[in-house]
Amino acid sequence: MISAAARPYIDASVPVLREHGLAITRTFYRNMFAAHPELTNLFNMGNQANNMQQQSLAAAIFAYAANIDNAAALEPVVSRIVHKHASVGIKAEHYPIVGRHLLGAIQEVLGDAATPPLIAAWEEAYSELASALIATEKSLYAQAGTTPGELREMRVHEVRTESEDIKAFVLEAVDGKPLPEFSPGQYVSVSVTFEDGTTQLRQYSLSDAPHSRYLRISVKRERYEEEKPAGRVSNWLHDYVRAGSIIKITHPFGDFTLDTKSDVPVVFLSAGVGITPMVSMLNGMAQINPERHVVFAHAARGKDWHAHQADIAAAKKLMPNLRDVSFYEEISEVDCDEVATYAGRMELSKLPSWSYKDTDVYLCGPVEFMQEQWRALLEAGVPANRLHREVFGPELLNYLN
Ligand SMILES: Cc1cc2nc3c(=O)[nH]c(=O)nc-3n(C[C@H](O)[C@H](O)[C@H](O)COP(=O)(O)OP(=O)(O)OC[C@H]3O[C@@H](n4cnc5c(N)ncnc54)[C@H](O)[C@@H]3O)c2cc1C
Ligand code: HEM
Repeated sequence: MISAAARPYIDASVPVLREHGLAITRTFYRNMFAAHPELTNLFNMGNQANNMQQQSLAAAIFAYAANIDNAAALEPVVSRIVHKHASVGIKAEHYPIVGRHLLGAIQEVLGDAATPPLIAAWEEAYSELASALIATEKSLYAQAGTTPGELREMRVHEVRTESEDIKAFVLEAVDGKPLPEFSPGQYVSVSVTFEDGTTQLRQYSLSDAPHSRYLRISVKRERYEEEKPAGRVSNWLHDYVRAGSIIKITHPFGDFTLDTKSDVPVVFLSAGVGITPMVSMLNGMAQINPERHVVFAHAARGKDWHAHQADIAAAKKLMPNLRDVSFYEEISEVDCDEVATYAGRMELSKLPSWSYKDTDVYLCGPVEFMQEQWRALLEAGVPANRLHREVFGPELLNYLN
């Protein structure tokens, strides 16, 4: 709990943060990276260049100030952050650095409006939030039996072309020791050191069920587009990694998970490379609970862009209550003849029927896809607490709930 003295200053900051949040977080990152260039190896510099991380941090700070006494509202935000932090190896000693530069940025952007009591209130609020994050991250590391930033060398057993732009990499441990346990839906961070000496971490969802010998990730090549340079890590993985290559990964983390043993019906809605955590969950259920009622709906540019079709076909043989449906933006007459394949974008009304009230719904795909489906699901009467989502980038919290 923050003190009664600090409380009115935090409350009064809500409209200020709404207006200046992005300017504050931009100033924060600029100053912090100037003082601590080594931290650029920890942060995703693609997300810095396209402003996503600045927006995500601003949204999180705003959510914190607006819900300071509402732990339930903050829980999903905090959960997402601690899993991401654990995946990239954040340590307790990093927090004072971030705190110093965040408070400095508030002062720099707000100028005279950043009065001493306002700064003192934010010092207190930051310290409270930091303590909570540090404690949860400590317990995540302990549960996982790993230390912050620990990397494991994995040999690439096989590389499979899954679609026009997605390759799957099947990995085995170089040290031959047991693989980490994980829940389907979780991700690892892959660490790549480039020729110029810079290191970058990127998260990739595990795309298969837990297996005693192998882990699998599936990576979409982020191609060059006008004003958007080619993605650094995904292109490196596609261009240089072959069977026999060694890559380094962190322990699996992530809170987008599904209880594979439960009998609650599930609907998966994915688009593009967002299919990866869904396939892990589906294969997990096929092994443990094949009778479960599942709708698996996927949207792709076309059949040639639809990754992991073989996994779905294999799961259908094991799961009598699995119904799948595909939506292709570019569709041929041959594809149209296939059962449950539709032209165009995903539409809820075209999904096999399911009970909106008692089904868990998992969403993963590009942000616009998720916003569209999220809105449609709520409008159709699916309770918000049944909806689960994974964003393949910093979470911007710009949903309807
Ligand atoms: C929890 C989670 C799970 C994920 N799972 C998967 C998965 O299973 N499979 C998968 O393929 N991906 C997944 N991702 C996404 C993945 O982590 C990477 O973000 C993705 O591979 C792109 O990384 P990159 O290094 O290739 O691109 P980056 O170099 O990081 O670039 C990312 C984007 O930013 C743009 N950008 C970069 N620099 C600039 C600039 N200067 N100006 C303007 N724009 C710029 C790029 O054009 C590109 O569009 C996941 C992400 C998260 C957070
Ligand atoms: C109270 C303090 C902090 C808050 C509120 C906070 C908030 C956030 C948020 C909202 C995200 C994005 C999560 C997502 O992907 O959706 C994030 C990611 C991240 N944070 Fe923090 N953070 C804090 C402290 C720190 C500290 C101390 C460090 C260490 C230097 C740090 C490093 C990172 C990194 C490296 C990422 C991933 C960035 C990326 O992949 O682009 N954070 N944090």
